[in-house]
Amino acid sequence: MDKQFKLFKNKKILITGHTGFKGSWLTLWLSNIGAKVYGISLRTKGFNHFNSLRIKGVKSNYFDIKDQNKLKKVFKKIKPDFVFHLAAQALVKHSYKNSTETFLSNSIGTLNVLEGLKTLRNNCIAVIITSDKVYKNFEVKRGYKEDDIIGGQDPYSASKGCAELIIESYFSSFLQKNKNLRIATARAGNVIGGGDWSQDRLIPDCAKSWKNKKPVMLRNPNSTRPWQNVLDVVRGYMILAKALKTKSKLNGKPFNFGPQSKENYSVIDVIKLLKKNWKNFNFKIQNSKKNYREANLLKLNSSKANKVLKWKCALKFNQSVELTAKWYKNYLYSKNVKKTSLDTLKDYYYYLKKKNIFYKSDI
Ligand SMILES: NC(=O)c1ccc[n+]([C@@H]2O[C@H](COP(=O)([O-])OP(=O)(O)OC[C@H]3O[C@@H](n4cnc5c(N)ncnc54)[C@H](O)[C@@H]3O)[C@@H](O)[C@H]2O)c1
Repeated sequence: MDKQFKLFKNKKILITGHTGFKGSWLTLWLSNIGAKVYGISLRTKGFNHFNSLRIKGVKSNYFDIKDQNKLKKVFKKIKPDFVFHLAAQALVKHSYKNSTETFLSNSIGTLNVLEGLKTLRNNCIAVIITSDKVYKNFEVKRGYKEDDIIGGQDPYSASKGCAELIIESYFSSFLQKNKNLRIATARAGNVIGGGDWSQDRLIPDCAKSWKNKKPVMLRNPNSTRPWQNVLDVVRGYMILAKALKTKSKLNGKPFNFGPQSKENYSVIDVIKLLKKNWKNFNFKIQNSKKNYREANLLKLNSSKANKVLKWKCALKFNQSVELTAKWYKNYLYSKNVKKTSLDTLKDYYYYLKKKNIFYKSDI
């Protein structure tokens, strides 16, 4: 039994975006602990990580979070003990082609979730997931801190920045008054891990190319990103929820979740490590000009989460990429997603125990 997170056992946990990349890992982990997981997502056809996991007992609701009435009804019916809001249009490139949809899902969708929280009369802890991209990016070398200016040029970043403003307004105008409710915002950087098949993301692009025996085309080989493993970030969200329960002073506060500051690596560093793990995997640099803007340098300062939550990434950059490479390799050989992902969770627990992180961060 996962001692650190036993508070989630038998609790009703509502996860929006439970079928997505992060949501599917959070759902798997919490279900494994014995939580009663309820999800809200868009219905996706065909193969995805969540569908392939076939997790028993998860109650999925498929509808659009833009529908405030439906969302309120679900909140009222479930009366969740914990809410993790992850549902979003999460891709920068897609946000240029579908900017209205991105703003409506990410900004108004978040407002609707807050409206859902407003209807609750029971005790509830909510973690609202935004992004590292909420900061006005001056491409500076230092990492952004929680009190830096909120901004965002591309529609995705701006939609998440808007969500932050809405959260702040709702917290001070309505939610703070509700003594049964505690809420915090989680801003994490680029996440990698197994089970991600999204378009226009590095790891899924690499995995698909490797599977099809084709070189992957790289847009920005020298771009650095705060890469971190999906399990480190999901653990951060759970630690934040746990800390909110015991520490009222965290109510309404934002937290960054990023790798250690020296752990900033480029796309090509990721590729080199994947090449070590995947036989015959290759890449080509794409020279064509990009018709949309994407930040080249983006760093997070996570010292607040390190200090207050005792959270830090358990995996170093190379361990995170290796665990990711192993997931795709095992999946491609075995086609057994559930076993592959549960094995990954076991590998991750092994790292936590080895580094004595498990119990140290038990706040
Ligand atoms: N993956 C990353 O590297 C990363 C980095 C920073 C922040 N984030 C944020 O983390 C969260 C999860 O990201 P992810 O990578 O798992 O995304 P994803 O694209 O894999 O999954 C998105 C999920 O949200 C659901 N969803 C999208 N629009 C919806 C709508 N209008 N109504 C209902 N459900 C909807 C989808 O069905 C899916 O379950 C998002 O809020 C994203 O912006 C992700």
